[in-house]
Amino acid sequence: MCGIVGYIGKNECLPVLIDGLERLEYRGYDSAGIAISNGCKIYCAKSKGRVTELKKKISRKKCIGKLGIAHTRWATHGEPSEVNAHPHSGCEKKIWVVHNGIIENYQTLKNDLEIKGHKFLSQTDTEVIAHLIEELYDGDLTVAVKKACLHLNGAYAIVAIHADEPDKIVATKFSSPLVVGIGKEETIFSSDISAIVGRTKDVIYLNDGDIAEATKSGLKIINSDKNTVKHNVFSIDWNFDQVQKNGFEHFMKKEIFEQVDSIQNSIRGRLDLQKGIVRLGGLESVRDRLADIQNIIIVTCGTARHAGLVGEYMLEEFARIPTEVEYASEFRYRAPVLNNRTAVIAISQSGETADTLAAVREAKKYGALTIGIVNAVGSTIARETDAGVYNHIGPEVSVASTKAFTSQLVILALITVMLGRQRNLSSIEASNIVQEISQLSIKIEDVLKIDRQVRELADKYIDSQNFLFMGRKYNKPIAQEGALKMKEISYIHAEGIASGEMKHGTIALVDDKCPSLFVCPHDSVYEKNISNIEEIKARGGRVIAIATEGDLDIANLADDVIYVPKVLEMLSPIITVIPTQLLAYYMAVFKDRNVDMPRNLAKSVTVE
Ligand code: M6R
Repeated sequence: MCGIVGYIGKNECLPVLIDGLERLEYRGYDSAGIAISNGCKIYCAKSKGRVTELKKKISRKKCIGKLGIAHTRWATHGEPSEVNAHPHSGCEKKIWVVHNGIIENYQTLKNDLEIKGHKFLSQTDTEVIAHLIEELYDGDLTVAVKKACLHLNGAYAIVAIHADEPDKIVATKFSSPLVVGIGKEETIFSSDISAIVGRTKDVIYLNDGDIAEATKSGLKIINSDKNTVKHNVFSIDWNFDQVQKNGFEHFMKKEIFEQVDSIQNSIRGRLDLQKGIVRLGGLESVRDRLADIQNIIIVTCGTARHAGLVGEYMLEEFARIPTEVEYASEFRYRAPVLNNRTAVIAISQSGETADTLAAVREAKKYGALTIGIVNAVGSTIARETDAGVYNHIGPEVSVASTKAFTSQLVILALITVMLGRQRNLSSIEASNIVQEISQLSIKIEDVLKIDRQVRELADKYIDSQNFLFMGRKYNKPIAQEGALKMKEISYIHAEGIASGEMKHGTIALVDDKCPSLFVCPHDSVYEKNISNIEEIKARGGRVIAIATEGDLDIANLADDVIYVPKVLEMLSPIITVIPTQLLAYYMAVFKDRNVDMPRNLAKSVTVE
């Protein structure tokens, strides 16, 4: 979703702002803009479309200055257009703001401001913020921003500058993320750390209600209780290379291939192979509470939710803890049954997904123990949960989540072993799981050898307009995830269901034009899947099977077979999902889609 960059420091800010915007492109956007102060005036340029379009519009002569803000907009109020692009200003063109989030009471505020004579140019909620600050401005931008916030309802991260205060940038946030990079004689504001990586490793995450004021002499933060505060400085371990394509055509392909290492990074230092135990430092502080929990609720969205669905099978089978997976977007609107012996696990790559965060806050109201499985270090969900486990996979840039998904699965397996050992999971069983987890990276390397075969299959099935994905037990969520990935990046309609549900309706779709992909490893439900494949074949349907190496029988039945290495049933989704990622990828490439930034989608969904 929208991306914010703000800069003040010793350097010319144009290159920093443009570089920051380019690094935030992956979040998804439809227009972009910048505003730079030259010490007397503020120069603004905006454009519909990509940052490359914006660059063409910028006058390098006018864009000289060491203070500026920039933005990539993902339209909410008003169509994607130049006039709706940020930054927005008040009537006098002195105050300029960029904003991420939604101002729910913008129409009321706009009506009031219009009565006071303010003239609006755009259809955005953001322009209201600029006029409101202008109305309240009395020579001090920090004070005006603070006063303006008292009138705003909704979610926001705001960065503002004023032509009359050329040595100051002011930022605030409520329910939308905002990070501050502390560099050498420079301060950078951003929606996420990817715009900061490369300039500094030291970042501060602002809390709701904080007002941050950066000048050339440093940063001052005042919290919602009006006290000057010093926040913890996090050191980011992401590096510049991780946000480059490094020879791959797309980030998605790079990230699919990175899974060999990312799985290893997620388990590093966490397995004791000798004793067959798992050590999760982030859960140590709540170990006793975990031993006492009676049920688990997993709250999450999208791909991360599919990881949760696999986790549900793991936790029930091996830790014997009743587990449910909830759509985070639904959780707060029902009357969930939970108490202080419930653990609520929030899974989120970005750690900023608005619905998942809201679900965590809801769970806290019931006194539940909240646990995060999060990739972005220091993100809001990581900070607001009682304890958690980081994925440690570096940045995931492509909108389509791949390496985060397999990492979420492996962490759920680790948590299962830990909770299982606190209950009745035997050390022999635990050792077996731990041993298999330690081998996953090698198996992923093996499965990636199918790359070329999957590419050929994508070519063969490229004209299909509909796809069915089916699987059972641990691989039912992989059918759902495979379908989501296919829809998300290739725009081919796909449905992922439990194979056993097929006969209750979906089979009506089967014909020679609607292929079915069966996730069918040699596991405890293999025979059942085979029966379902027979039924599809009997109705003239074409079948692609993801099967275990050595399963020659399935080749007589399915039209195409993708073989993957054998692995413990509970861990099989980590392997079987990879062909579905590659299939979606090549379908999207052949259809000439914008693979890393699919239409209408955003990497981090920070609004409800
Ligand atoms: O950052 P999160 O893991 O909380 O994001 C959740 C979903 O928005 C995300 O997984 C989404 O479904 C992906 N684009 C799917 O590839």
